[in-house]
Parts: sequence; C-alpha cells; structure tokens
Amino acid sequence: MAEAFSSKVLSADKDARYAELAGEIAAVLDGEPHPVARMATVAAMLAQSFEGFLWTGFYLVDPDRPDELVVGPYQGTLGCLRIAFGKGVCGTAAAQRRTQVVADVEAFPGHIACDSRSRSEIVAPVLDRAGKLIAVLDIDSAESAHFDATDALWLERIVADVFAR
Ligand code: SME
Repeated sequence: MAEAFSSKVLSADKDARYAELAGEIAAVLDGEPHPVARMATVAAMLAQSFEGFLWTGFYLVDPDRPDELVVGPYQGTLGCLRIAFGKGVCGTAAAQRRTQVVADVEAFPGHIACDSRSRSEIVAPVLDRAGKLIAVLDIDSAESAHFDATDALWLERIVADVFAR
C-alpha cells in the first residue's frame, strides 16, 4: 500500500493535497486500531507528501509522568526525548490544547531547538474519542512562515479523524 501511495501524484494545491492525503490515510489505517501504528503511518504519509516538512512526528503524553511529553513515532533527524508541559511549542500546545502556528521559532519564548535548521513550526493537540489529550503532532520546516491556517485546519482534521473517531 505504501508503494502505491508514494508513486501517486498528489495535487500541487495545498488544500487539495491535504484532502487527498486525508483519504489515503483513512484507507491505509482502515481496520488498524493500534495507536503506534496509526501515529507512525500518519507521520510517514505526511512527511512523504510535503517536501517542506523537515521533522514530522508525535510527542505522547506519558501516562507515568502526565505533565511530560515523550517522543513517539516520527520522521526526521533525532528529536528531543522529553518535553515538559508548558515548555517550547509542543509543551505550549499540550498545556493550552490549542494548535500553535509559529512563523519564526527564534521569536517563540522557550522554543526547543532539536534541529538547528528549523525555522517555523506547527503543533496540533491530539485528543482521543473521550476528548483526553494523548499526544501532539509536531511539524517543523527549514523555511520561515511555512505553515498557515490551511495546515492548521487540515492537521487538526486529520488527527481528529485518526484518533478521535
Ligand atoms: N521545537 C519543538 C521541540 C521538538 S522538535 O522540534 C522535534 C518545541 O519547541 O516544542
């Protein structure tokens, strides 16, 4: 299935590309309930679909330390292992349960630089069916102001479809 996906030609238009990708993700994950398999698949398919994504992955709420995020499935260079709630972009998204779109990571107080090439970032909270925060989806880009409201809308929609249904 992954081969068929990577050979597919996705639309150049970002909105259309996300719409196609959301359908592909749902098709690939049909019948697979394990959250690690679901997160790994979402990270791989997003990273394959957008050239501007430098680091794409999940930080999970650690059940043993509920005020900390721990790294989960990702695509990219080595990520930090743990991020406290409220720290950096990921910790802020987790604490506020709100998507953070950061045009310039240098200007974000407490930004955690895992890859020095990162210039902009988007982080969306991931809730389960019961509305409990289980993770955040973090995507970094080497380009400034790479993410906008279209990314926020579609990434929120994709994580809701995959983890809250
Ligand atoms: N930049 C993130 C840390 C995670 S890495 O970029 C993979 C942050 O400030 O939350």
